[in-house]
Amino acid sequence: MSKQDKIYIFDTTLRDGEQAPGFSMSIEAKLNLARQLAKLKVDAIEAGFPVSSPVQFEAVKRIAKTVRGPRILGLARAVKKDIDVCYESVKHAPKHGIHTFIATSDIHMRYKLQKTPKEVLNLASESVKYACSLVDYVEFSAEDATRSQFEFLCEIVDLAIKSGARSINIPDTVGYAIPSDFGQLIRRLIENIPDLGKKVVLSVHCHNDLGLGVSNSLSAIQNGANQIECTINGIGERAGNAALEEIVMALKVRKDIMNKMVSVESKQIYPTSRLLTILTGVAVQPNKAIVGENAFAHESGIHQDGMLKARETYEIMTPQSVGRTISHIVLGRHSGRHGFIKCVQELGYKLNEKEMEDIYKKFLEVADKKKQIYDDDLVAIIESELKKSIKWYRLEYFHVLTGINVVPSAVIKLKKGKEIYSEAAYGDGPIDAIYNAIDKIVRLQPKLEDYIIKSLSGGKEAMGEVRVIISYKNNRYFGIGSSTDIIEASAISYINAINRCLMLQK
Ligand code: KIV
Ligand code: ZN
Repeated sequence: MSKQDKIYIFDTTLRDGEQAPGFSMSIEAKLNLARQLAKLKVDAIEAGFPVSSPVQFEAVKRIAKTVRGPRILGLARAVKKDIDVCYESVKHAPKHGIHTFIATSDIHMRYKLQKTPKEVLNLASESVKYACSLVDYVEFSAEDATRSQFEFLCEIVDLAIKSGARSINIPDTVGYAIPSDFGQLIRRLIENIPDLGKKVVLSVHCHNDLGLGVSNSLSAIQNGANQIECTINGIGERAGNAALEEIVMALKVRKDIMNKMVSVESKQIYPTSRLLTILTGVAVQPNKAIVGENAFAHESGIHQDGMLKARETYEIMTPQSVGRTISHIVLGRHSGRHGFIKCVQELGYKLNEKEMEDIYKKFLEVADKKKQIYDDDLVAIIESELKKSIKWYRLEYFHVLTGINVVPSAVIKLKKGKEIYSEAAYGDGPIDAIYNAIDKIVRLQPKLEDYIIKSLSGGKEAMGEVRVIISYKNNRYFGIGSSTDIIEASAISYINAINRCLMLQK
């Protein structure tokens, strides 16, 4: 295999991502995410558009002052004031830069900028030169490059390099490109300007209007681009930007054909995605590649059977490689016997063949009516069909007290077999209080690694579903629960994760 060239990962979650509707973040939240991006080991963070508002300015400044590792850049139009403000905010970072841009397509120059191509060339050159007088790293973007005339694009890129730009970005601003033609555009640019991708970084920035942001970015890499601008969870203007997690994992999983390396610490991908969800309150779609809830969940019988025999049958990467914990089997109407038996065994039951067959039939009946079968449903089926007592803790009763100026507290009763256990505890909130009380009963203090809550239906009576992951003695356990009461769903999911943990401790 030849030496692997590096692909620089330029993260623009805090700029292009944050400017999309619904994704705006407070300064603290931006700082928090920027620290996590540094842990993820991206090469550059575009921290914001400083001239656009005092909050943007302050956020970029605080990130530049405190976040170490990646280069910190800010965005600036090809306007002196933007560049000055950008410089004032990024200058505090040991490695900083200014990203300046101007549109180069006829449609943008005529209608948006109302400038002639000659004026645009002049502005590009003047702004790059001015930015270079302030910082030693300047990136120039030709906005709407994919709808620009090729000769004009070459002319402006060449001029930007001669004016001092160290990185040239070719944005597919409106997500118009198709992988083959975008790859060809990149190759033709390099043929015309050989320094691109060598002395000068050749970056691409692809939007997802046709759902092709990632494919276009990969095609650009295969044709000589050496930097990708992307965002966590693919957030960004309109349909978003190319998703960082998809690009990075495509490069890693298909190293055999891509033959490139990235510095990104892939185990930090999921924690970063989750943090973004928590900070913005916007969840990713369940089937989203790499970070979606179902990305490592297996429901169909054939898949569950394959997974139980050899993980590689239906997984091209491990959930652990992207910082997730466990692949889990989801029981539903498509589940087959093997997945079902595994779930029953995880509950701690040892059933003979006939018993297993009987409850499997009952399970299929219930699964036909219910979208998903939770542990508690399974326990209920087993209990009612076989009249067997269980070694599984179940929620019997709870009571929480919470409110403004009230220390949250919880009283809880759990049932195991015929025994009832009860405890009370305080907490930072009602869920913390309930989890503390459960910990007292089970005499474990697992770490809560992940807590995801979602509504399963609309309206005031909506069912809420909670999924948790706990860790104990270097192992992680998954639990899920649903109820119209989110505190109850939280308690059930936690108890189920603890039950799994206890089964394994035996
Ligand atoms: O999409 C785009 O063209 C941009 C530029 C500012 C790089 O976001
Ligand atoms: Zn963009």
